[in-house]
Amino acid sequence: MQDSGEPDQNSSSPSSVPERVLVVGASSGIGASLVRQLAQEGCQVAALARREDRLAELAEGAPPGSVHVYPHDVMDAGDVPALLERIVEDLGGLDTLCYVAGVMPMVGPQEYDHDQDRTMVRVNLLGGMAWCAEVARLFLSERRGTIVGVSSVAGERGRRMNPAYHASKAGFTTYLESLRNRLEGHGVRVVTILPGMVSTDMTAGIDKLVWPITPEQAAKTMISTWRGSFWSTRYMPLRWCLVMRVIREIPSRIFRHLNI
Ligand SMILES: NC(=O)c1ccc[n+]([C@@H]2O[C@H](COP(=O)([O-])OP(=O)(O)OC[C@H]3O[C@@H](n4cnc5c(N)ncnc54)[C@H](OP(=O)(O)O)[C@@H]3O)[C@@H](O)[C@H]2O)c1
Repeated sequence: MQDSGEPDQNSSSPSSVPERVLVVGASSGIGASLVRQLAQEGCQVAALARREDRLAELAEGAPPGSVHVYPHDVMDAGDVPALLERIVEDLGGLDTLCYVAGVMPMVGPQEYDHDQDRTMVRVNLLGGMAWCAEVARLFLSERRGTIVGVSSVAGERGRRMNPAYHASKAGFTTYLESLRNRLEGHGVRVVTILPGMVSTDMTAGIDKLVWPITPEQAAKTMISTWRGSFWSTRYMPLRWCLVMRVIREIPSRIFRHLNI
């Protein structure tokens, strides 16, 4: 299912104006680190999430005028076209979309809660599709731009832990690959980010994290990935690429007995 990082011909050429980046899911963790790093570099950043107070704090801590705050719930997909138009006007254009928003509630071994599952799909997958499609239309008209989606290694196998999370991430990874194939040759680049484990609010309840990285490391890797031209799919850290290659090959009848 994955392309493992072949050289990518669709990289958008760097320009002399500061990069204008839209981060969806900017109020904490990886998204907040992205906003901080980009703003420090002099980029113009649109920061979106539900928690307005967190976004306001980010803007206050950043160089004046660099962070534009837009409270938004990605489950309100109907708001996306008008909001994107407003952001493009405020930033004077757009170079990069980063869809980072995600939820992963802890699910008990005997828990089957459709409302909770539906929220995961709406935030992790449908919200990403709504933003990526709207931005794809814009970038296609300009024959330029970069779309970055944060999916997860969790999308590569259906572990027993949290079926809806795995399914939503599998869906988002596939959606991004399809979008990349569709936009190939039109000047628009699509980058898939596959983190392993990152120490954020999302993983705060997990006892032992495997090869954890900080949100700052994750953001730094993401930025260098989309600015470079090599990776179209980037595991973070890279060793997850090899690990997942092995895990993908484990037959289902064995995989279901493994506690991984
Ligand atoms: N942490 C990990 O180990 C890990 C591993 C693999 C992949 N990922 C992925 O990385 C991404 C970022 O996660 P994180 O670790 O940085 O977790 P986090 O700190 O919990 O951040 C999640 C972000 O998503 C936003 N969000 C959630 N629901 C939203 C909604 N309905 N509307 C708008 N924004 C919403 C949150 O903002 P508000 O709550 O303010 O709306 C927050 O800014 C997620 O897609 C996650 O699945 C994380």
